[in-house]
Amino acid sequence: MSATLSYPDAVDLLDADHKLAQKMFLDYKAMSQDGAPSEAKRTLAAKICQDLSVHTQIEEEIFYPAVREAIGDDALMDEALLEHAEAKELIARIRRMAPNDAAYDDMVQQLFMSIMDHVMEEREQIFLKARYSTADLRGMVPQLYARKKELQTGAPAPAPAGKKKVPA
Ligand SMILES: [Fe+2]
Ligand SMILES: [Fe+2]
Repeated sequence: MSATLSYPDAVDLLDADHKLAQKMFLDYKAMSQDGAPSEAKRTLAAKICQDLSVHTQIEEEIFYPAVREAIGDDALMDEALLEHAEAKELIARIRRMAPNDAAYDDMVQQLFMSIMDHVMEEREQIFLKARYSTADLRGMVPQLYARKKELQTGAPAPAPAGKKKVPA
């Protein structure tokens, strides 16, 4: 539980992922410019793809549905899901590519641009609206954190323990 305390609410937790992803993309760019071996770049790209997959999944399973209900803006949330689908497609393409493929760096760069556009939209619209809504952003932290750890370690999802009803 204590590890979740570093995130005051769901937006902080999700934005910490965004910042880490941005840092890794910039590290990748630097490696690429320095002519790093393709295997080393592939290792970092694989980590980026894995982290982004976990991130989009916890958003889609936990954060987006709660926020959609609280802000009542289906168009905005549908657009975000479309952007996730685009990112997933790029991730799948990167995973299928050989690391020495001439287009590998370009594909990682394309994912970087696509993710940063999406992050801007989350920050400027979804996160902002969520914070002005009734969504329980603080209450979501332990659930987001636990699901993230579970997906990172590949552990099977535990059977749902009888859902607690939170009194209004
Ligand atoms: Fe997202
Ligand atoms: Fe996000």
